[in-house]
Amino acid sequence: MKKAKLFEKLALGPVELWNRIVVAPMCQYSADDGSATDWHLQHLMQLGMSGAGLVMVEATAVERRGRISHNCLGLYSDSNEAALARVLAAARRVAPAGTRFGIQLAHAGRKASARRPWEGGGPLAPDEDPWPTVAPSAIPFGEGWHVPAALGSEEIERLPGLFRRAAERAARIGFDVVELHFTHGYLLHEFLSPLANRRGDRWGGDAAGRERLPLAIAEEVAAALPPHVAWGARITGSDFAAGGIEVEDAARLASALKALGGSYVCVSSAPITADVRLPIAPGYLVPLAAEVRAKSGITTRAVGGITEPRQAERILAEGAADLVALARAFLSDPRWVWRAAESFGIEIEYPPQYARAKGMRGEAAA
Ligand SMILES: Cc1cc2nc3c(=O)[nH]c(=O)nc-3n(C[C@H](O)[C@H](O)[C@H](O)COP(=O)(O)O)c2cc1C
Repeated sequence: MKKAKLFEKLALGPVELWNRIVVAPMCQYSADDGSATDWHLQHLMQLGMSGAGLVMVEATAVERRGRISHNCLGLYSDSNEAALARVLAAARRVAPAGTRFGIQLAHAGRKASARRPWEGGGPLAPDEDPWPTVAPSAIPFGEGWHVPAALGSEEIERLPGLFRRAAERAARIGFDVVELHFTHGYLLHEFLSPLANRRGDRWGGDAAGRERLPLAIAEEVAAALPPHVAWGARITGSDFAAGGIEVEDAARLASALKALGGSYVCVSSAPITADVRLPIAPGYLVPLAAEVRAKSGITTRAVGGITEPRQAERILAEGAADLVALARAFLSDPRWVWRAAESFGIEIEYPPQYARAKGMRGEAAA
């Protein structure tokens, strides 16, 4: 059998992955008051059987007002927990043995109360049942967005407990990995970035102040998870904006998360304010992942414009990252892992129901 780093095992703390290919978290905007629906059932069953070593479930709100839209997934109620338990159990039943499942826990902060992308995105209008949003400071994401209320210190102190309770629900359901969403312009990114956090109290100011809440959340979640569940975080590699987060900040946060027992970071980015434009190109965030990995020594996941097996393999072979996550490539080709294995001459187990298709190209089938 041939070799490719993509198909080498990797330990994410206590969780062994059978390969280094990750389905990135992808919001489906298809939940019912935070509860997963049949859409999630088909989505995660399909991606569960993809052969990826780790399948990440989308940003999942730790409280109702922390959803991006009316239809975002949540883990803030018993019904949310029951609905997601049904979906995960079904996905596990069809996934190759050894497939791991993770969930991303999130709070949308000032980007909450928004329309689904296919309904135009942007803030909900007064006749669309909007709700009040919160953030470190009362500064909107952009023109026309809801002005968030600046969180009071009592409300801030409640947040680690909200993340802990959702993490406990995730562990009870049977997730292998819990990921904290610290980027993409949502609440914890808002605390971390000087462009959104203008607080003068202990939750803002210098880097230590801005990192205080995300690290308190990580500490609380770490203490609550059973030892067989790994946790990590998705962080901002750069805000791509003057005065914003730089890669040195990302590396410092990654080191702090590692010291708290975090098993990995995923180095990502998305606008912290509506006017930021990212330099999107194939693999454009990979150099940031490489720098975070080199400076912090934490297991690092690269993401962003990774579409081709050889490109993914090169990222790992060059030591820029330890694993790769793909989002859009998995939506357009849920068989990406099979194609990658084939292109490297690597044999992987196919579901027996589909295995007969292998080697039958051009032959008549019945
Ligand atoms: C439909 C869709 C939904 C997404 N939802 C999330 C999400 O829930 N959480 C997150 O961190 N990123 C989310 N993202 C970003 C992806 O995880 C990924 O970082 C981004 O798409 C870049 O990777 P790609 O070039 O492989 O698509 C989403 C992306 C897409 C396309």
